[in-house]
Amino acid sequence: MYEAVELRDGDKGKYLGHGVSRAVKNINEKISEALIGLDPIHQYQIDQALLDLDKTENKADLGANAILAVSIAACKAGAAEKEVPLYKHIADISGNTGLLLPVPAFSVISGGKHAGNSLSVQGIMILPTGANTFEEAMQMGSETYHHLKAVITEKYGADACNVGEDGGFAPNISSFKDGLDLVNEAIERTGYNERIKIAMDVAATEFCIGTKYDLDIKSPNKSGQNFKSGEDMIGMYTQLCTDYPIVSIEEPFDKEDWENTKLFSSLGICQVVGDNLLASNLKRIERAIHESTCNALLLKLNQIGTVTEAIEVVKLAKDANWGIVVSQRSGETEDSFIADLAVGLATGQIKAGAPCRGERLAKYNQLLRIEEELGDQADYAGERWRLS
Ligand code: PGA
Repeated sequence: MYEAVELRDGDKGKYLGHGVSRAVKNINEKISEALIGLDPIHQYQIDQALLDLDKTENKADLGANAILAVSIAACKAGAAEKEVPLYKHIADISGNTGLLLPVPAFSVISGGKHAGNSLSVQGIMILPTGANTFEEAMQMGSETYHHLKAVITEKYGADACNVGEDGGFAPNISSFKDGLDLVNEAIERTGYNERIKIAMDVAATEFCIGTKYDLDIKSPNKSGQNFKSGEDMIGMYTQLCTDYPIVSIEEPFDKEDWENTKLFSSLGICQVVGDNLLASNLKRIERAIHESTCNALLLKLNQIGTVTEAIEVVKLAKDANWGIVVSQRSGETEDSFIADLAVGLATGQIKAGAPCRGERLAKYNQLLRIEEELGDQADYAGERWRLS
């Protein structure tokens, strides 16, 4: 609801209404006319021209999909013109001096809207915080993922190993605890133990009914029987963080439930990440900082719509001493821009899905390339990954 508008054609007879020919036309006509002659090195100027052309607050006129595509293309062109790597160009335009390889949050169990199982939580992730390099993090994450496949196969059979939108396995479990137990067992099998931490993307907005949370919303026979209040949810999260090595919980409450999000954050138990709550939107982030609602930003580029605005909100979050997680979308492409963005802005964390499916691996492969290119200069965020 608070995201920048993704312009779709709406013609149900074509691509079920999801076509983007209007957005493409906007690029080829209105946008190209406004930008021809500008220098892509000056990202701010390009993005300002795009905003001036659109004029709406949520990019509804041209479409954030049209605007962001051009903003990213200009950024890549700027790097090419300067003959520097993209992450370096992003660091330059943002004024950031220290490049940093992020800790990856690999989705390993998928639920919520990302999978057809009965699990209400959208994702369980593993974070190789104890790795020394990104390459090692990749190895640790991949090995754990494949151990998890074996654990799930043993318990639920091979057909429980189909994957969800972001590549996590989607066994037909319904409780958070069952998912966490599977992941814990996989971590134990790798022997990495405390070098791998767990994060959850609850996406609670999807199962909030009024002021209550329906944990069994996806189990048709049980839906409505497991309603939890905000207070119950805080109790549940607190217990889970004691029982499992959970260091981060994303969207623990509904996007309008500022009060419970703040209450939970104030306990200081783990990183509390705002996704739908913040929608990468400047005003909502300012409010959350002012009210101490959460302590980390989930940055989704197409929620905000231009590279310049993404840099602005990252700066805001950094000044507030928040954690920053650059994020995928569930519907992804093979574009790997967010990998360079995470390094160039030194965000310290990236969530790009499982170590599986090409559109997810495109980001991780780019991070491997960047680390290789940086050689001795490469710095992995694991060591300094701290909770606010
Ligand atoms: P989305 O979320 O389904 O809104 O794209 C993806 C995510 O948070 O990982």
